[in-house]
Amino acid sequence: MRKRRLLVVGSGGQPFREYALAAMSRRVEIVLAIDSEISWQQPYVGEYHRVDPHDPVALEELVRRVAPDGLLTYDELLVEPVAQVAAVAGVPYTDVEAVRRCKDKSALRALLAEAGVSPVRFAVAFTEQEAVRAAEEIGYPVVLKPRALGGSIGVVQAADEKQLLASFAVAADANSDGTVSAHAGVLIEEYLDGPEYSVDCVTWEGTTVPLIVAEKELGFPPYFEEIGHIVPAAPHPDLAAAVEMVVRAHAVVGLDRLASHSEFKLTSRGPRIVEINVRLGGDLIPYLGQLSSGIDVPGAAADVAVGQQPDLSQDRSLVASIGMIYPEYDIRLESVALRGDAADHVGLERFTTFLPAGTDVRLPPQGFLSRVGFAIVTDETREGCRRRLEAVRAAVVIEGAPLAAR
Ligand SMILES: Nc1ncnc2c1ncn2[C@@H]1O[C@H](COP(=O)(O)OP(=O)(O)O)[C@@H](O)[C@H]1O
Ligand SMILES: [Mg+2]
Repeated sequence: MRKRRLLVVGSGGQPFREYALAAMSRRVEIVLAIDSEISWQQPYVGEYHRVDPHDPVALEELVRRVAPDGLLTYDELLVEPVAQVAAVAGVPYTDVEAVRRCKDKSALRALLAEAGVSPVRFAVAFTEQEAVRAAEEIGYPVVLKPRALGGSIGVVQAADEKQLLASFAVAADANSDGTVSAHAGVLIEEYLDGPEYSVDCVTWEGTTVPLIVAEKELGFPPYFEEIGHIVPAAPHPDLAAAVEMVVRAHAVVGLDRLASHSEFKLTSRGPRIVEINVRLGGDLIPYLGQLSSGIDVPGAAADVAVGQQPDLSQDRSLVASIGMIYPEYDIRLESVALRGDAADHVGLERFTTFLPAGTDVRLPPQGFLSRVGFAIVTDETREGCRRRLEAVRAAVVIEGAPLAAR
């Protein structure tokens, strides 16, 4: 049978997204729209178009010309533009208003609180004075964040007014490679304590199925760099209720026909949603899911996008973990390498570096997502997985010259 055609907008970079494009290409014929020459994507793509995906007129023209069975993007910055174009061009897609509700983190907070799901005190502040007033009402500690960015860029915790004033600009001026938040204002939220998780879901014909629960490892406080993830999460008495809450939130928002990646915390006041990303999870979390259970979330994302029943089967039960590699200080990078032979590390699925020599890498708040590589390991047990990752991390050698403070 002819494979259905899926227009994928944006490809992301090879280290973090090749697995997803490869998985999707097994289920559908990929028509790729990117704003550069095609390279590593070629083996997975049937048809390629060069377009500026942030140009709505050009994108709409392309969508009409290609007339695909479905549309998909896993690029956070393209989630809203692609939903808009789908609506205008009449391609079946997740409801554009539902997408907007998730993209604007304050709109999501308001909607969920109204529905009695995951109530979190919040306010939007445009000035330092407004932020101070909001934080006083909410109560310290608070978290400041851009209303619509990703990768924890510009997200910072403040314990008191002094810290809030010192960090307001970090959230207000945050940008992702030059792209600023699509919605103005800084979101001030009550601090949610407790361990953090993510759940990747697929929603098809109005039913949301949770598929991969990952536990998150955070670093660089008071910032929130995601330095690792482990799948599956360790058993916890509140996990099932939390996942059920995320599923309910999908219905409240009106999400359908998509793979999503939601983050939540098990706080002392009960489970609370951090955010719902209306796209595939980042940091290779869906790939961890595939290694751990055999579930193919990118494949299922492609399935539902073109309107076919997703295959959600599982065939194994392992523990998989990713550890991001960071320098110890701001550095002009020369090299990142693994001491000895990678083959000596049992269970090492991947050791990947991606920054060219000469790249300046700055740690938060001067830079965010300051990774210089990552390692993925699997094992039969959680403890074994942790040990393997620790051993790999200990064998990483980062060379370069320290950078002067800015
Ligand atoms: N209200 C909060 N309380 C505690 N931690 C938070 C809160 N909001 C965000 N965080 C932390 O910051 C991280 C990034 O915030 P998030 O809203 O997910 O933004 P992004 O879109 O950049 O991922 C979260 O994964 C979480 O660790
Ligand atoms: Mg997040």
